[in-house]
Amino acid sequence: PTQLSARAAYLLRGNDLGTMTTAAPRLYPHMWSWDAAFVAVGLAPLSVERAVVELDTLLAAQWRNGMIPHIVFAEGVDGYFPGPDRWACTELAAAAPVGVRTSGITQPPVHAIAVQRILDHSRRHGRSTRAVADEFLDRRWPDLVRWHRWLAESRDPSGNGRITLYHGWESGMDNSPRWDSAYANVVTGPIPPYRRADTEVIADLSQRPGDAEYDRYLWLVEEMKRVRYDDASLVATMSFAVEDVFVSAVFALACDVLATIGEENAAPRADVRDLREWSARFRRGVIETTDPRTGAARDRDLRTGRWIGTETLAMFAPLLCGGLDRDVERALLRTFEGPRFAGHPDLRFAVPPSTSPVAGDFRPREYWRGPVWPVMTWLFSWAFARRGWAERSLHLRSEGLRQASDGSFAEYYEPFTGEPLGSMQQSWTAAAVLDWLG
Ligand code: DGY
Repeated sequence: PTQLSARAAYLLRGNDLGTMTTAAPRLYPHMWSWDAAFVAVGLAPLSVERAVVELDTLLAAQWRNGMIPHIVFAEGVDGYFPGPDRWACTELAAAAPVGVRTSGITQPPVHAIAVQRILDHSRRHGRSTRAVADEFLDRRWPDLVRWHRWLAESRDPSGNGRITLYHGWESGMDNSPRWDSAYANVVTGPIPPYRRADTEVIADLSQRPGDAEYDRYLWLVEEMKRVRYDDASLVATMSFAVEDVFVSAVFALACDVLATIGEENAAPRADVRDLREWSARFRRGVIETTDPRTGAARDRDLRTGRWIGTETLAMFAPLLCGGLDRDVERALLRTFEGPRFAGHPDLRFAVPPSTSPVAGDFRPREYWRGPVWPVMTWLFSWAFARRGWAERSLHLRSEGLRQASDGSFAEYYEPFTGEPLGSMQQSWTAAAVLDWLG
């Protein structure tokens, strides 16, 4: 284990550009929003100071409307598409930040978890390290609340407690079967010519989304550009609009985490009250989507008004944020641990694949359509600990560590063979290991 954590630390140093850690060395040579939060979780046991720098870099790119963008581009670094010129946020978006280039969409709000881990670790150190964490919290508290307020208001315009996304990339689970039906209704218009960069890095095309999927991804960017990334216009114009139940559960959870941090650190009471309100509203929003018998949660396609039930990690959203009746929660835990997911008899490790191996649309090598993502194992193990399920949490941790002991720190893994897939040296995989061993 000490050797594994030394390798993970070495990996993060290798991906460190100074004030940002790239999500992966070649495939993702910039800063991604939720990657950065997980990276900060992994940096915290190594250096509270460096973890703070990571979040500061991300928050320095926050939009004026409160959005944390999904990519902060490293200056002068090429090799990723779509890059800053394609997004053209500086040119088009009134809310875009000055002096830094970003994408024009967002990603799941896991950042409060990172702030909490930073504070936790800082308490184990002397006064100067603690002061760094406290100063960071004081300085960035308003930005963190602004971020949550933007999600609660601009991304839940109807106030029903579910976050609306306008691009599959915003879910972080880009090509999950969750979005197939919504994407099927996206009719692409004229897309300026482009050349993918991801397939130059990952030669085995079966591990990445396909070209038809990419066309739709890029068309949605063009739709956003037409309305200059204006929040109010997106609601009416985007041909892809879904309520993401997983992001909504993460948000409910993150609001609680942030509220508790606020209470313990004398934050303005009105902020804490808002955070608790959002948390309650989004927990309710998540529970409303669930099957009363199985507890499985569903996404919703706002363009067709239909619920989207899939056998993917999204069905377990209520396990993250709570709110189900006890019996139903038990049933959902049994599904999580049973043969349709982490307890499938042929799995190499007992960790949940992104899509159920018994689902019709399961593909064991293809990105979010089946592979195991270690960072998701980490998120569930962290959330389970928080919910008081220590044994379940430790089990995920030990299986996750067994999987990571191959030392590739892969982005995702084939569930049956354990073959590492996608990018190697993925920062957030190393971060998960560091937190588990820290
Ligand atoms: C990618 O490029 O594959 C990313 O997931 C998009 O954010």
